[in-house]
Amino acid sequence: MGVLSAKLLRFALLVCGLGGLYLLAVQKHEDRDRVRLAEVELTPTCKAKLDAYGLSAGSTYRSPYLVRVGGAAPAMEGYSEEDVRAIQRGCNVIDDLQGHMAQGGHAERWNAQRFVRGSHTTCTHCHQDAGDKQDAEGNRLKGSNNLGASWVMADMYDRFTGLILSHELRQMQCYINSSNGFKPNIADDLLRDVTAYSRFIAAALDLKIGNRYPEQGMDEIPSAATGRRGDDYVRGAFTYRERCASCHGPQGFGLVTDGRVVYPAVAGRNSFSLDSRMNFAAVNTIMPGFICRNMPPGAEGSLDAQQCRDIAYFLSTLPRPAGDLQGPLAAVWQQLMMIVMPPLTAYADSLQRSDVSRASH
Ligand code: HEC
Ligand code: HEC
Repeated sequence: MGVLSAKLLRFALLVCGLGGLYLLAVQKHEDRDRVRLAEVELTPTCKAKLDAYGLSAGSTYRSPYLVRVGGAAPAMEGYSEEDVRAIQRGCNVIDDLQGHMAQGGHAERWNAQRFVRGSHTTCTHCHQDAGDKQDAEGNRLKGSNNLGASWVMADMYDRFTGLILSHELRQMQCYINSSNGFKPNIADDLLRDVTAYSRFIAAALDLKIGNRYPEQGMDEIPSAATGRRGDDYVRGAFTYRERCASCHGPQGFGLVTDGRVVYPAVAGRNSFSLDSRMNFAAVNTIMPGFICRNMPPGAEGSLDAQQCRDIAYFLSTLPRPAGDLQGPLAAVWQQLMMIVMPPLTAYADSLQRSDVSRASH
């Protein structure tokens, strides 16, 4: 009798345990569905952009942007209510990855901050204007890392990995390296929504699949594009101080005010990792290209190719997270440097400043 009831008890416990897991899964799925069905509150940038592109549900879509810039605006297949919400959520993810601007929780950002280690990163820092940067006349800009132009290049050969990578895999790389974080599942809504958004940008701009556009990727600067004087740390540190430090800080830690990232970190804990293509020591053509084309905001194009390479070189010597490819020794070393270097650098700077003020008296 005792043996039987012990068996029964174990069986009942097993059923309860599995049933509990099942109910949990059902609840998670329902949560996701609720988010998918909920109205999306757009960030200001996304609102302006998607309004200008005339995003709404309907049987056909005609891009007002193309009409405005005088191109032919063919009638394209329209979007369902569900498509529209996915595109809107995708834009929000690019513009506000970690939900700093979101009211009451980050549901429609799919809690993306769990995939990012630092507190600064959002995609729009490097894929500017929510991945679709334009000048005042509405011209797309060379080397602006446009996500629509990237989508039409999907399944493209990636010379750094030697693989054909889909748009989703490229996004995943940016979570791991450029955001110093973790890889979302390839079927995650987080990636799917950004793909929907990127595809919509391509449609709104009438970008043709398979074409390579100048606004795709960075306008890379190899050393061959300079006078080949060699990249120089001292020149880089000097130019950084003159042209960049007022916003990104003397040590590159950026600026956060009222929980909002005003200027993102370009070094230290909240920055991209050693493995990011933004890191000069990993790929020495991309960061200089980004700087020359996109920085400082409002004065883009004011630095020459050598200055951009010098600054990128200087930034690559500042401590930052190691990244997954680096192994435990490099990880420990970078962690140590991120603790030791900032106070030492600040101290050295203060000595220099007092030298300067003594000399001027
Ligand atoms: C620190 C800067 C940085 C951040 C932050 C960043 N990216 Fe990137 N992204 C890059 C660089 C650099 C490349 C590589 C460009 C190249 O290879 O020419 C890239 C490439 C991509 C590509 C492929 C584009 C192409 O045409 O080659 C996609 C898609 C992408 N990023 C999505 C994202 C998403 C989504 C996020 C936010 C989770 C993000 N990125 C955050 C810097 C960044
Ligand atoms: C007026 C302030 C300002 C100045 C000056 C400035 N930046 Fe930026 N920088 C920004 C802002 C704001 C962003 C985020 C861009 C966005 O959200 O559109 C940014 C983004 C960046 C990024 C990508 C963000 C990341 O996560 O890595 C890098 C790299 C960068 N700047 C480097 C530089 C360099 C190098 C200089 C000097 C040549 C410079 N910046 C000068 C304001 C500035």
